[in-house]
Amino acid sequence: MTMKAPAIPTAPKSIPLIGHLVPLIRDPLAFLRSLPTHGDLVQIRLGTSKVIVLCDPELTRQVLHDDRTFDKGGPLIDRAREVLGNGLATCPHSEHRRQRRLAQPAFHPTRFHGYANAMVPCIDEVIGSWWDGRTVDVPAEMLKITSRGLMATLLSGAISASALGPLVDDGAAIIKGLYRRMLMLPPLDRLPTSGNRAYKHAHSRLSQTVERLAAERRTGADEGDLLSALLAARDPENNGQGLSDAEITDTIITFIIASTETGAATLTWALHLLAQHPEIEHRLHAEVDSVLAGRLPTYSDIPRLELVGRIITETLRLYPPGWFFTRTVNTDTRLGGHSIPAGATMLYSAYLIHHRENVYANPAKFDPDRWDPERNTQPPRHAFIPFGGGARKCIGDTFGTIEATLALAAIASRWRLAPLPGQNVRPPLGGVLWPRQLRMRVEARPNATESTARQ
Ligand code: HEM
Repeated sequence: MTMKAPAIPTAPKSIPLIGHLVPLIRDPLAFLRSLPTHGDLVQIRLGTSKVIVLCDPELTRQVLHDDRTFDKGGPLIDRAREVLGNGLATCPHSEHRRQRRLAQPAFHPTRFHGYANAMVPCIDEVIGSWWDGRTVDVPAEMLKITSRGLMATLLSGAISASALGPLVDDGAAIIKGLYRRMLMLPPLDRLPTSGNRAYKHAHSRLSQTVERLAAERRTGADEGDLLSALLAARDPENNGQGLSDAEITDTIITFIIASTETGAATLTWALHLLAQHPEIEHRLHAEVDSVLAGRLPTYSDIPRLELVGRIITETLRLYPPGWFFTRTVNTDTRLGGHSIPAGATMLYSAYLIHHRENVYANPAKFDPDRWDPERNTQPPRHAFIPFGGGARKCIGDTFGTIEATLALAAIASRWRLAPLPGQNVRPPLGGVLWPRQLRMRVEARPNATESTARQ
């Protein structure tokens, strides 16, 4: 006799038609943190859709590593497909391995040195425009760093600054729209509201620009950038075929959407956390002064920027920019003793797992030293998932970490960012977890060199 699997508990306070929208809007992070008290798997309602939330690191690992059963899908991905087509981040399992093989050479370790060389001038350009006493909008400045950095590495800077601005704005409008549309009842997304119009315009403008840029480069020389690697890639398991024009466009739009806000969010949170923890900021300044002595960082400095690395890691733990993603279940299966029917939607959240008290001691505390190998307090590998895991793990994890490390080191070497009173840093509900506004005062550090700390 087979035992009947226990039902998956539902989180309290669901309201008909809107589900758990109220706690999700009021305080999405507190809502997520509350879920493990109900079980390792907990059902919630996102608008009209039922979603099973993974509250346990081991079950999350099992789901991420079985991407045949737990395929890309669910409300967020369905909406993302409207924009990213069947690109690398959104394509189903059946197409994924071929696309990943073709995109992977662009992230080969031998290329990182060149990418870092292209990123540093972009970082310098942004932070070199600051001056002592200036108040800066930190998310906007960090977005300049990551978007210029991406364009420099993706397109060898072959796009003018005036064309870049609208491209980045379109990417941001799409991310914002994606999240709102995921929570909407389907007919509402067709209404001609200003939000829906902005989303559609942003999408069509971005596609047209990217198609034009890719077409120009198809006939051009190898520039050693990400786009060249994508255009040159050939799949030995598929008669040496490369990515189609449509796949190249989808992949580039995916890179823009997947990398700019995530990277900017990491840096914004890191600067905010440092301002709240002067003792760690002080140690950071000592490290960058000793390693860089006032000059700009390079790729080969990264191993010696140990504390910078730990600050980035701890920031990604406390505030993982991609705070949740969904999967769709392809066949009836079992997980953690429960039956999961085909067609169910699963949600995993790095934020939720990173705040589990049974995994991280004092999870709310910003403690970069928990990552010090000598402290022996590192969590199991699968409990740190800011880049996801398994075959669908972020392809840009190293790229993103290198950029964040170089940018934070360059900023800390030259400037201190002081908090302003009365700032509300609670992140609004959105596809990327970050405060949209954070104003801080720039203070020059005594050892800043003239060449880079320009007035
Ligand atoms: C701090 C920066 C970044 C964070 C936190 C981040 C986070 C993530 C996460 C969590 C996933 C997995 C999503 C899922 O499981 O459904 C992912 C996938 C992906 N990311 Fe990133 N990402 C970052 C930077 C980048 C960069 C720099 C690029 C490219 C230039 C990139 C491109 C992608 C792509 C293409 C995927 C889909 C991979 C696949 O399905 O094979 N990301 N990212």
